Amino acid sequence: MQIQIIDFEIKGDERGSLVALEGNKNIPFDIKRVYYIFATQKAVRRGFHAHKNLKQILICVSGSCKILLDDGKENTEILLNKPNQGLLIKSMIWREMFDFSPDCVLMVLADGYYDEQDYIRNYQEFLRLVK
Ligand code: TYD
Repeated sequence: MQIQIIDFEIKGDERGSLVALEGNKNIPFDIKRVYYIFATQKAVRRGFHAHKNLKQILICVSGSCKILLDDGKENTEILLNKPNQGLLIKSMIWREMFDFSPDCVLMVLADGYYDEQDYIRNYQEFLRLVK
């Protein structure tokens, strides 16, 4: 399956590094919502859902974590460990997040507000809908 990683430009100088994210520029949608996951406990796996419409970009701004993506035909695991890399997840992709490092901060940019109606939380239903 096709993995869409976006490499953000690092504006670095002798003081350190800076990444800027702008809707419809280096982020390919209007950003409506930002949330982040941190202080994740050991061995926790989360996600376990797909979205009917929502698009998201995941950026591991600190530490590392792994993402499983499943389109109903194939699945793949991606290691996120660079604050200048974004993983684009389009709609109708099942995702799970795991192997969070203790210092992991996983920031997510979304093109929609939080809407429980947009979630598919049952894997069998996901497979049915994706076919
Ligand atoms: P949850 O969907 O379980 O997170 P994940 O899919 O990453 O495992 O979300 C945890 C809680 O946070 C749940 O009560 C819903 C709430 N929530 C919001 O209120 N707004 C949001 O944007 C998100 C992503 C979650």
